[in-house]
Amino acid sequence: MVGKDINKAKEVLMDNGLVAIPTETVYGLSANALQSEAVVKIFEAKQRPAFDPLIVHVANQDQAKNLTLNWPKEAQLLADAFWPGPMTLILPKSDLIPDLVTSGHPTVGVRIPNHALTLQLLSSLDFPVAAPSANPFGYVSPTLAQHVENQLGNKVDYILDGGAAEVGVESTIVKVENGKVFVLRLGGLSIEEIETCLGKPVDQIKTSSSNPEAPGMLSSHYNPGKKIIIGNITDLLADSKAKNIGVLSFKDEFQSKQIAKQVVLSPTGDLVEAAQNLFAALRSFDEEGIEVVYTEFVPDEGLGRAINDRIKRAGVAL
Ligand code: TXA
Ligand code: MG
Repeated sequence: MVGKDINKAKEVLMDNGLVAIPTETVYGLSANALQSEAVVKIFEAKQRPAFDPLIVHVANQDQAKNLTLNWPKEAQLLADAFWPGPMTLILPKSDLIPDLVTSGHPTVGVRIPNHALTLQLLSSLDFPVAAPSANPFGYVSPTLAQHVENQLGNKVDYILDGGAAEVGVESTIVKVENGKVFVLRLGGLSIEEIETCLGKPVDQIKTSSSNPEAPGMLSSHYNPGKKIIIGNITDLLADSKAKNIGVLSFKDEFQSKQIAKQVVLSPTGDLVEAAQNLFAALRSFDEEGIEVVYTEFVPDEGLGRAINDRIKRAGVAL
């Protein structure tokens, strides 16, 4: 069921059920983070492997501090600057959090999402909620309630509809350890903003399937179910024998009889708009009879780095 009824969402969560929640990044699939019996339903609904830990969502900093063993000054600086917002902090977990949530890791990911409906819901609960993106494992994240309904509608007890996600890519995952700050996943908050806030450079940890510190970094994690080739779109079109081609470009429109469907992420070349549109655009090619999708990278700065990261994982670079 899809609706805007916060009380209904609250009842389902209190009953250990699953509620899809809107956030500014993407929709999440939430359950009571303190009840393993509820959390296990998330893994089942998403077909998510048990080694992939969940992010815990809270309404305020006090709740976040309750879930962690320590709260270094870097965490305080970042939380003050960017919460509510598209940033997840990874810190040593307190005993309150079941091991299932963190896949046995000694750390927990926490964030305060920036979405009015969801903040209202979280404030009304006396427990935090665990919520991964509300998509089947390995698929593109949902940015509309409809995306969740289409793929997980029969597995979720309630979908709280909060409109289109404003940021459009997932949160930036930041680990604070021994005074050092690492970015485990690029996302809606840019590395530049984090460095400005802390006044020092941060490292990006390149994770892979052999080092699944943040398994969301697995390659092909964002595959929308179509063959996607990344390169120079003009050259790709010129060399192609395909007749029903999808084109996903940053700002330019391409002309060719072979193009069956074309989406321009931002005609004005705005990275914020491009991020908002990215996942719905990737999904849209899955819905039509397209043989192959050609796409390109966006400028590799600010939010563009997170966009390029997701494009890389969705496709094959030539
Ligand atoms: O924007 C977002 O972060 C969205 C919304 C719903 O909040 N959530 C999201 O969750 O993208 P998910 O599960 O799709 O991706 C979370 C990533 C996973 O790749 C997981 O491995 C990583 O966060 N993660 C969670 N807890 C972690 C931990 N303790 N240590 C390292 N990585 C962790
Ligand atoms: Mg995900």
